[in-house]
Amino acid sequence: MADPQRSRRSCLAVPGSSPKMIDKARGLGSDQFFLDLEDAVAPLAKAQARENVVAALNEGGWGDRIRTVRINDPESQWAYRDVVDVVEGAGRSLDTVMLPKVTGPEQVSWLDLTITQIERALGLAAGSIGIEAQIEDAKGLTSVDSIAAASGRLRALVFGPADFMASINMPSLVVGEQPPGYDVGDAYHHVLMRLLTAARANGLQAIDGPYLQIKDIEGLRRVAGRSAALGLDGKWVLHPDQVEPVNEVFSPRQRDYERAENILDAYAWYTSEAGGRRGAAMLGDEMIDEASRKMALVVAAKGRAAGL
Ligand code: GLV
Ligand code: MG
Repeated sequence: MADPQRSRRSCLAVPGSSPKMIDKARGLGSDQFFLDLEDAVAPLAKAQARENVVAALNEGGWGDRIRTVRINDPESQWAYRDVVDVVEGAGRSLDTVMLPKVTGPEQVSWLDLTITQIERALGLAAGSIGIEAQIEDAKGLTSVDSIAAASGRLRALVFGPADFMASINMPSLVVGEQPPGYDVGDAYHHVLMRLLTAARANGLQAIDGPYLQIKDIEGLRRVAGRSAALGLDGKWVLHPDQVEPVNEVFSPRQRDYERAENILDAYAWYTSEAGGRRGAAMLGDEMIDEASRKMALVVAAKGRAAGL
């Protein structure tokens, strides 16, 4: 399956420094996981974490989930060694590299070229390793269109709410929740919509970041539900209890999925020769046309991917 079509409803964050958590992650039902070398790993643990991550990918046991490693900030002293060690050591067992704190397209180009060099040196299939770019500050957001167009390896744009809130001085301590006192709408609407449109303009997926109140599953459903309603493809999860609710929120409801399939069937019939080659038609009380077909395709594709 082409990567941009692969399901990314839930993406499990796993600290690369913890073999125990890496092991536990194998049994969880997220569509994607990422082994983290960045903010979940202390500076002195970075080198050991690289070794853990390479070993875990090569050992396998990840099913058909998307296998991702988040390297360090491209401006940090760790980033180049992260790419070299992980792609050289486990390039055949890796689907994407996640680049955090992206501020401009040149950083994505750097990663693309570095991966290309390693692929050639190792004889890996050209272009098989994708890139996911995290948008986490004002610079990243204002350059998001050029970032999204920077490489054919890009698969997804990923929002980083914690770093983003800090970078713009949003006075909140609860990641993913509305800042206290903001009661006129959703403080993230603009950011998520901006990221989503830049992603779609370039055929990429758009992923929401974490919700840190692990015990508040209702809060998680509410926040994830907003992103799913806008059209984002998935969200990070930090704990086993978050996986199922997030998978559910980013799958269409059964009755919406069935309705979408009915619209596609009806439209196919009306536009066929036997159906009179009509451009618009009725399905129950609703008029359907080419635009309805496109909307139905979106829901049907998500439903099929979720196995409905
Ligand atoms: C994730 O990286 C975040 O900053 O929220
Ligand atoms: Mg971050």
